[in-house]
Amino acid sequence: MADNKTYFIQTYGCQMNERDSETIAGMLEQEGFVPALERDGAGVIVLNTCSVRENADNRFFGQLGVMKKIKEKNPDSIVAVCGCMMQQEPVIRKIREKYNWVDIIFGTLNIDEFPSLLRRRLAEGRQAMSVSEAREHIAEGLPSVRKYPFKSFVNIMNGCNNFCTYCIVPYTRGREVSRQPEAILEEIRSLAADGVREVTLLGQNVNSYGKADRFDTDFADLLYRVNEVDGIERIRFMTSHPKDVPDRLIGAFRDCEKLCHHIHLPVQSGSSRLIKKMNRHYTKEGYLETVAALREAAPDIAITTDIIVGFPGETEEDFEETMDLVRKAQFDSAFTFLYSVRDGTPAAKYPDQVPEEVMHRRFDRLVEALNAITAEKNLAYQGRVEKILIEGPSARGGDGICSGRTDTFKLVNFRCNPARAGELADVRITEAKTFSLFGELV
Ligand code: SAH
Ligand code: SF4
Ligand code: F3S
Repeated sequence: MADNKTYFIQTYGCQMNERDSETIAGMLEQEGFVPALERDGAGVIVLNTCSVRENADNRFFGQLGVMKKIKEKNPDSIVAVCGCMMQQEPVIRKIREKYNWVDIIFGTLNIDEFPSLLRRRLAEGRQAMSVSEAREHIAEGLPSVRKYPFKSFVNIMNGCNNFCTYCIVPYTRGREVSRQPEAILEEIRSLAADGVREVTLLGQNVNSYGKADRFDTDFADLLYRVNEVDGIERIRFMTSHPKDVPDRLIGAFRDCEKLCHHIHLPVQSGSSRLIKKMNRHYTKEGYLETVAALREAAPDIAITTDIIVGFPGETEEDFEETMDLVRKAQFDSAFTFLYSVRDGTPAAKYPDQVPEEVMHRRFDRLVEALNAITAEKNLAYQGRVEKILIEGPSARGGDGICSGRTDTFKLVNFRCNPARAGELADVRITEAKTFSLFGELV
């Protein structure tokens, strides 16, 4: 094994990657590695990549250029690359042709093989690689290093079968495979025994949990069962697809007292015509009905979303439909994206790409409207007392300021002893800003 037993993991992309990085860290620690304080000089450097952002390829190869310099300085350090970019054939080809000094390459379905690839690389001195296109089972029982002792992600399924026409994820994460409910519950019970109070169930489309595998347990059943686990006090989940939000899932917001009143429900567009071209299988009206049903079941529920501006063929009318939907849905917050081409997806070949300046103009108008609604929603919190899970020192709040989230996922900063991290405490909201709240412990 290597002499320098320190590691550094750089993670890009979504919570799925963050969760995978925790597993990668867990495996490295099982092999006797400890975290390095900084990237340069670490014995093992892992780049966990994402393909979803614009220019992901350029940025990744730019990062590899930096890695090459690091390796020139420390020839014994091991550079491993993994994540969604490794599932793209042209990327692998380019690494093997032009970046053959990269030590280890593994795919999103091969995370459990990392320790053996590392051993192979060290024993044989050659590049070690494992990238699969499909796997039927999710490896269970892998170790993990959690970022927080009191909250944790729990992966409930891998992959995506939806093939939205703009999206690369189904090609990088493979087909949907769900974990057995018992394995999930076992993990959550052991997390609870370990002091975890909040779990976030993860999947690209959690509502279809168990469907492709024909389980008897569906996502709503799973929520009811997680709600029974002693010690867990908050349950969150990500992400839901608007095409399948069944009444039983909406009912869970009423029945499961631990289920947090927040749902991330990416709408992508307010134009039913475009939603169809995106292959998303719902309409603007259907989406708004789902929003209304959720608010009826849980009047204080926070609804957040993702919106893409400038999908190919988006007309002024289509965009106005999005603006109208935004006004009607009253989102608590939204991630907005400028459409950008992902090679290999159907939309990349659509002829009617929207000109940049049109896209930018629409984007600015949309963001302005969304921010005004977010600010108004936040203002309604002023004066309320909210239960906050204290997370520790605030990233931006300054000395003596901690942050945490309300049940509805609003970020709150307040003066607090950081030693209280992990506690659920009452905080009175004294000030609302556009993207966060300020309060005081009561
Ligand atoms: N599984 C999640 C989303 C994963 S990708 C879901 O279905 O909701 C996260 C977000 O990135 C998407 O919701 C979408 O808004 C955005 N996105 C994905 N591909 C994109 C593209 N080609 N151009 C712009 N935004 C994109
Ligand atoms: Fe991508 Fe659509 Fe799957 Fe989400 S549901 S990951 S947007 S293909
Ligand atoms: Fe990116 Fe892969 Fe997640 S492409 S958004 S890291 S599933």
